[in-house]
Amino acid sequence: MRRFRFDNPEAVAADITEKYGFDGDLLDLFANNQGAVVHKWHHYIPIYDRYFAPWRNTPVRFLEIGVNKGGSLQMWRRYFGDAAVLYGIDINPDCARFDGQAGQVRIGSQADPDFLNQVVDEMGGVDVILDDGSHQMPHVRASFQVLFPRLETGGIYMVEDLHTAYIDKFGGGYRNSANFFRFLRELTDDMHHWYHKKGLRHPEYEASFSGIHVHDSIAVIDKMPTHRPVHSRVG
Ligand SMILES: C[S@@+](CC[C@H](N)C(=O)[O-])C[C@H]1O[C@@H](n2cnc3c(N)ncnc32)[C@H](O)[C@@H]1O
Repeated sequence: MRRFRFDNPEAVAADITEKYGFDGDLLDLFANNQGAVVHKWHHYIPIYDRYFAPWRNTPVRFLEIGVNKGGSLQMWRRYFGDAAVLYGIDINPDCARFDGQAGQVRIGSQADPDFLNQVVDEMGGVDVILDDGSHQMPHVRASFQVLFPRLETGGIYMVEDLHTAYIDKFGGGYRNSANFFRFLRELTDDMHHWYHKKGLRHPEYEASFSGIHVHDSIAVIDKMPTHRPVHSRVG
């Protein structure tokens, strides 16, 4: 995505603060990173902080799909703190060299249910998932299908780089059937199943998603049991 590249490395922090009004710790961890390369879109930084901040300095079990050069796991370690249980998975066997550094690294495909289940078993459960893997639409769906049911109640599932949902080579396309936003639209319909007669499109998730947040290229799905809505007139 060359046409979106920001070409002033000295001004990364200033750009994020000016445009998004953000100056939390994560700004410094990203913009002044001296460790392994981390490559992120500027507008992701405040979005990460908005959703991840409640887990800082807790024993959060955090799984990132996509390790690459190990930079993001380093950043997450600094952000979440020593108590966090950080795991990264990647299909590239070279990433095994990062195992045991900022977190644990396991090698396998995000489209392999047995592998994903094994990793979550080893983690003792998972509270936060960040999918920054292949960005291939079928892979994004395959991981969600296995991992969302494994997510702890109160946990969140974040998928980034979803501009790929519009790009052919990632299996995406404007409103095509594999576009992840189309799936989210179906989940939105299921969330509102109380108000229509079409039933659940995805009964496998047992309507256990309590919030679906869409940002530019990022989706966040909250895991929480839902209840038949009621209302009261009070006072
Ligand atoms: C965008 S990079 C991850 C970058 C890293 N999260 C960061 O921010 O620095 C994507 C990674 O996904 C990995 N990947 C590609 N296909 C995969 C698959 N099927 N399963 C798991 N990882 C995959 C690639 O090897 C690559 O390292």
